[in-house]
Amino acid sequence: MSDRGPGIGPDDRHATAPGNDGAYARGLLARALDPATQPGAIRDFLREELALVRRLLPPGSSVVDFGCGAGRHLVDLADGIRLGVGVDTQHGSIAEAVRARPPRHCHFFVGDATAVPIARTFDRAVCLTNTWGTVSDKRGVLREMRRLAPSDRARLLTVWAETSIPARRAWYANMGYRVIAETDAELRAEGGFTSEHFTEERLRGLLGPCELHRVGDVAYLAEC
Ligand SMILES: C[S@@+](CC[C@H](N)C(=O)[O-])C[C@H]1O[C@@H](n2cnc3c(N)ncnc32)[C@H](O)[C@@H]1O
Repeated sequence: MSDRGPGIGPDDRHATAPGNDGAYARGLLARALDPATQPGAIRDFLREELALVRRLLPPGSSVVDFGCGAGRHLVDLADGIRLGVGVDTQHGSIAEAVRARPPRHCHFFVGDATAVPIARTFDRAVCLTNTWGTVSDKRGVLREMRRLAPSDRARLLTVWAETSIPARRAWYANMGYRVIAETDAELRAEGGFTSEHFTEERLRGLLGPCELHRVGDVAYLAEC
């Protein structure tokens, strides 16, 4: 454990893991959520994402959050939902969520979004702030989202559009993850962090029938 203790800062248990797991364990999420690192387009996106998700959730829903980090979305939405459950692989993030004493109807646990040990179903499953664009097994996450929220259009995912590239390049550099390679589908940064972006066509191909909403100038929210 780092001397900062468990939290969305560094978590030494996974800090040597390769790729995105290691980057998150070394505190990437805390830096990403620090407004000082965020270009204006990213700040606008974070605000608009929350507002749009709030608008799309039926009042009193039960919601499961895939890759919940330290739980900020469920906590922000707590007044409008009856149950929130968040799952994330990072012990440090879940410890942070629990330590912050979330509302009693919000629960957080360490687990893998491709194999969530829950049998009940929810009104909605969310996977936000391009979490889906950072996981290696996208189909596995989607399969679990469909299992846990089986109703039509019950899955909400936000992912980066191609227009996000300049803002993400600046944001990642501000966090110490300078971009070293760019392809049609992803940015690869120093430190082994990789983050994908999507065209409408690719998104529809991966998700199947869905409604796409723009979020700010830089992202899509897919209802699928
Ligand atoms: C871009 S961050 C977003 C975190 C949170 N949704 C937020 O917006 O504050 C992606 C999160 O997904 C988590 N994650 C990545 N792969 C995962 C998996 N297979 N199962 C569960 N969580 C995962 C990471 O640990 C990280 O907290």
